[in-house]
Amino acid sequence: MIPASLTSIRTLDQATILQFLDLGQSIKSNPSAYQGALKGKTILQFFVENSTRTRMSFESATRKLGGTSIAFVSGTSSLSKGETLLDTIRTIQQNGIDAIVMRHSSSGSPELIAKTTKISVINAGDGSHEHPTQALLDAFTMAEKWGLHFKQTNPFAKKTILILGDTLHSRVARSNIHLLTRLGARVFVSGPSTLTIKNFELFPKVEWVAFPDKILGEVDAVMALRIQLERQAQGLIPSKEEYRHFWGLTSERAKKLRNGACVLHPGPMNRGVEVDPEVADSPQSLVLKQVENGVYVRMAVLSKLLGGLES
Ligand code: CP
Repeated sequence: MIPASLTSIRTLDQATILQFLDLGQSIKSNPSAYQGALKGKTILQFFVENSTRTRMSFESATRKLGGTSIAFVSGTSSLSKGETLLDTIRTIQQNGIDAIVMRHSSSGSPELIAKTTKISVINAGDGSHEHPTQALLDAFTMAEKWGLHFKQTNPFAKKTILILGDTLHSRVARSNIHLLTRLGARVFVSGPSTLTIKNFELFPKVEWVAFPDKILGEVDAVMALRIQLERQAQGLIPSKEEYRHFWGLTSERAKKLRNGACVLHPGPMNRGVEVDPEVADSPQSLVLKQVENGVYVRMAVLSKLLGGLES
C-alpha cells in the first residue's frame, strides 16, 4: 500500500517499492503523459541542510508534473529566531501546502513531522538515518543498465552489489541496504571498521568484507560512498591517503571489476579519495545517469503520494 508519507525504505514492502520504480519507468518512457499529475498541488522544498542534486531534482519533478514548487529559505526564516521545527511546520501547513520535501540534519525529523501533522512528508535525507529517494533512483539506474523491469518480484535476485566506504554515517547506505536486499540482491559492505555500521542486527541480510579487493571481481555494481570529511575531526580514519589506499575505488582497483560491472556514487564526490576521477568519468560510471533518473523517480514518488496519475 502506498503510504501518505515517504520517510524510510525500511518500512516499505517490496510491492510498494516496485510500484514506485515501475511508475518511474513509465514516466521516463512517456513524461508528457504525466504533466498534469500535480496540477493544483503545492510542494514545499524544506531543505535546512545543504543539497544540490536532491533539491533541484524535486523542484524539477514538481514542475514537470504541473505542480507549484516553493523553496523554504531557512537562513531568513523564523527558525533562526528560535521557533521550533514543529511550530514552523504547523505554520507552513496553514498556508495550503500539500506536501513537504524535507532535508534535515536530525535523524527522524521527517517521521516526527509526518506523525504530528496532516501534511504528506517526503524524506530528502535526515541525518545518518535514510535517504529513500536516493535508494530508489540508484535501483532504477542499475535496473536500466541491466535491462530489468519492476513488474515481477525479486528483480535483483541474480545481482551482487558492493557498498564501499563510510556506511556508519551514510543515510544513502542504510536506504540502499534495505531496498536492494528487499529486491533480492546480495549486498556487501566494505570500509574501515571505524566507519562501518555497527548494528548489523538491523541489516541481517548484509555481508561485510574488510577490504573490497577480495570480491570486486564478483560484483555487478560498486556504490562508492562519500567520505564525510566534516566528521573526520573525530579521527575515524588516519588520513585520506590511507583511506584511498585500502578502500578508494582507484583506477587500479576498478580494473578488477568484471566487464559490464557498473560504478555508482550518490554525489557529491571527493575525487581522488573515495573514487578516482578516471573511474568517476569512465564508461562504467552511472553517476550522471543517477542524477538524470532522480527526476523520473521523484516524479513517480510525488505522483503516487499525492494521488496523481497511475502507471
Ligand atoms: N545525493 C545527494 O543527496 O546529493 P545532494 O546532497 O547534492 O542533494
